[in-house]
Amino acid sequence: MRELQQTPQGNSGDSVALRSNGLTKKYGAKLALDHFSIEVKKGSIFGFLGPNGAGKTTFIRLALSLITPTEGYVEIFGSRVSNTDSQALSRIGAIIEQPALYNYMSGANNLRAFAMMLGGNDEANIQHVLRIVGLHGRQKDRVKTYSLGMKQRLAIAIALLNNPDILMLDEPANGLDPAGVVEIRLLMQNLAAAGKTIFISSHILSEIQQLCNEIAIINQGKLIKQSTVHELTKMQVSIFIVTTDKAATALQFIQAEPWGADAYIDLQNRLITRAPGDKGSDLSAFLAKHEIYPESVQLQEQSLEQVFLQLTQSPQQGVL
Ligand SMILES: Nc1ncnc2c1ncn2[C@@H]1O[C@H](COP(=O)(O)OP(=O)(O)O)[C@@H](O)[C@H]1O
Ligand SMILES: [Mg+2]
Repeated sequence: MRELQQTPQGNSGDSVALRSNGLTKKYGAKLALDHFSIEVKKGSIFGFLGPNGAGKTTFIRLALSLITPTEGYVEIFGSRVSNTDSQALSRIGAIIEQPALYNYMSGANNLRAFAMMLGGNDEANIQHVLRIVGLHGRQKDRVKTYSLGMKQRLAIAIALLNNPDILMLDEPANGLDPAGVVEIRLLMQNLAAAGKTIFISSHILSEIQQLCNEIAIINQGKLIKQSTVHELTKMQVSIFIVTTDKAATALQFIQAEPWGADAYIDLQNRLITRAPGDKGSDLSAFLAKHEIYPESVQLQEQSLEQVFLQLTQSPQQGVL
């Protein structure tokens, strides 16, 4: 997984690799994507996170001009994507859902076959992409003997054949065992380090959290949130207060606060409560006012999974 060439720079000053603006797709009456606008910065590993049926594959198909939008558009390095102008599209390599590999052919011959379809069979390039994905040593083996992780890496090699600036992968970790997930993660990190922009859709939250620096959360065709993983996690910090001092009195007061719904007294007569991270100063004032002196106050970051559940649930359920 070495020997990566630097990806050539885009047009002058283009820090945005991919942008969608008001992107909307209806399948009959079904609104699969609803005025969806995001920006993917050049060189980022961008996580596109959402449950099944959220609209992830639809977005990727639109970005590749495999389907046409009902409204809105996608830009690649500032050029609008269209199925009549392949200039913008030539800068993307993609895998959508399960790639169709020829199981009875070797890895290298699969690449040769796909390279022919792309219009050229450059053996040096085939060897180059095989090295990038770490399959150089297994290139003569039939694909049917490959692990799922190796098949996925071969599919990525196919997507890399035309040396794209942007790699779009639709659920690349799907169905992989933990070792396969790690293989893909390392490969993505290497590709990003070589200057490629990586766009990965997933419903696997922990994977996105470990790999991506920026994410967009999609649900029912709508953008729920775009931010850095760090920003999102920081924002969703909780404060835990543990106190045995005046626990019963404090419980009554805290339960009356909008954030106090989940307060309880445990078996050691301690009051345990949580408040959203941005309520720190309110909480200190509240505790001082009622002369409650907690034994500990802890900040705790939530996992992206908890954050995601909050953002996609109703507001009442999502406060804490
Ligand atoms: N060709 C199609 N015809 C009708 N509905 C579709 C089609 N493709 C996708 N959908 C619907 O659009 C929604 C989004 O689908 P999709 O983009 O595949 O979601 P995801 O990839 O996030 O699982 C789903 O409700 C799906 O059933
Ligand atoms: Mg999908």
